Amino acid sequence: MPKIKIEGGHTLTGEVRISGSKNSAVALIPAALLCDEKVKISNIPNISDIDSLEEILKYLNAKIERDDDTITIDSSEIINKEIPEELSQKLRASYYFMSSLLGKYKHVEMYFPGGCSIGVRPIDQTLKGYRALGATVIEEENRYTITAEELKGAHIYLDMPSVGATINIMLAAVKAKGITTIENVAKEPEIVNVATFLNNMGAKIKGAGTDMITIRGVDYLHSGFTEVIPDRIEAGTYVIIGALLGDKLKVSNIIPSHLEALTSKLIEAGVNLEIHPDYITVSKSNKYKAVKIKTLPYPGYPTDLQQPMIPFLTQCSGTSTVEETIYENRFQNIYDTNRMGANIIVKNNRIAKIKGPTKLTGKNVTATDLRGGASMLICGLIADGTTTIDNIKYILRGYDDICNKLSKVGAKIELI
Ligand code: EPU
Repeated sequence: MPKIKIEGGHTLTGEVRISGSKNSAVALIPAALLCDEKVKISNIPNISDIDSLEEILKYLNAKIERDDDTITIDSSEIINKEIPEELSQKLRASYYFMSSLLGKYKHVEMYFPGGCSIGVRPIDQTLKGYRALGATVIEEENRYTITAEELKGAHIYLDMPSVGATINIMLAAVKAKGITTIENVAKEPEIVNVATFLNNMGAKIKGAGTDMITIRGVDYLHSGFTEVIPDRIEAGTYVIIGALLGDKLKVSNIIPSHLEALTSKLIEAGVNLEIHPDYITVSKSNKYKAVKIKTLPYPGYPTDLQQPMIPFLTQCSGTSTVEETIYENRFQNIYDTNRMGANIIVKNNRIAKIKGPTKLTGKNVTATDLRGGASMLICGLIADGTTTIDNIKYILRGYDDICNKLSKVGAKIELI
């Protein structure tokens, strides 16, 4: 099992170029199945979640070509067969195939999706959407058989703005008869990316990025092209690293407005950021002050940048508070963070109080999940001495070439 070894305390300078968004790419690839012609998607990140999706595509008999960061998918000879449990459970986004296949063939068989175990993560809103569109859902333990004679447009109100449910219902409704309206939808930029791609192939979707999405069903999607938007979570992770260790560290190829919930918090804490149209430059300061963070759906503070922010908060003077409102189990890495010297108390798995500043010391630690792993990696970068992280498969699921990107700007970090 590979590990990541870090010698902490090195100043970082130069440029880190941000890759395409994981959470966009993992939806755009299954969306391509709705089309019967070749589609091209560029700026695909090189992460293991994409490899897992590619395995499912191949299993379904799609033809794939990958050339650098561009993927070409030809779905004209897809075989709609049950997606085995082992493939479904490799990642959360496997369930986007459930919606594409349902939308295209009106029948799909697969298993409950996987993903980091950061909470319960039910799929009830997606299933509610399928049923509203006229499908019958048979659930046998964790296996689903979903069938519709015809999918018909419907009005669907989501109990909460779920990213997954919003994308799933969009995918299932693109070819339904008539008009579908989905209210209280998620507004994440990744949803706009998926809607734009589908429209590019001939779908008629309006309102992505607002509270309500309207979909006028179409019979056919033709070939299309899209570019994955920059990964705002990867970008945010590097901006946080720059605030701790940067000397004019440039985080480039980003859309800074997607990062505003983070950058406004960093500015409140005293970080000096230079925000440009497509990059941010950040340098370390001597003193930061404690801040309060509450995770919320976009455009609120993202839950995915909650754990990577914790190492920064250990270096702020005073008591910072982090309230996690999206997931029930997103403080698993605090145990190791405290072992490294932090002073953090977690109440009811919901609120963390971080007293700082505290010195961190290198230790052998574990990546409990993707963003928890990123958090431990940042702790290692600022700690005295050497940190070794195991279970790094989680980190490699979502951060493209992270050791190389950091080494190039001066970090002492290696895969061992
Ligand atoms: N929820 C339900 N029922 C549903 C769907 C969601 O109760 O049917 C609840 C969830 O339990 C959670 C909240 O609604 O409390 C939000 O869940 P959402 O569906 O929005 O999350 P997701 O689609 O499963 C995506 C990202 C996550 C990111 C969340 C929130 C992907 C593949 N994953 O998950 O990314 O945390 O949105 O922004 O897009 C990550 O990248 O590390 C990651 C976990």
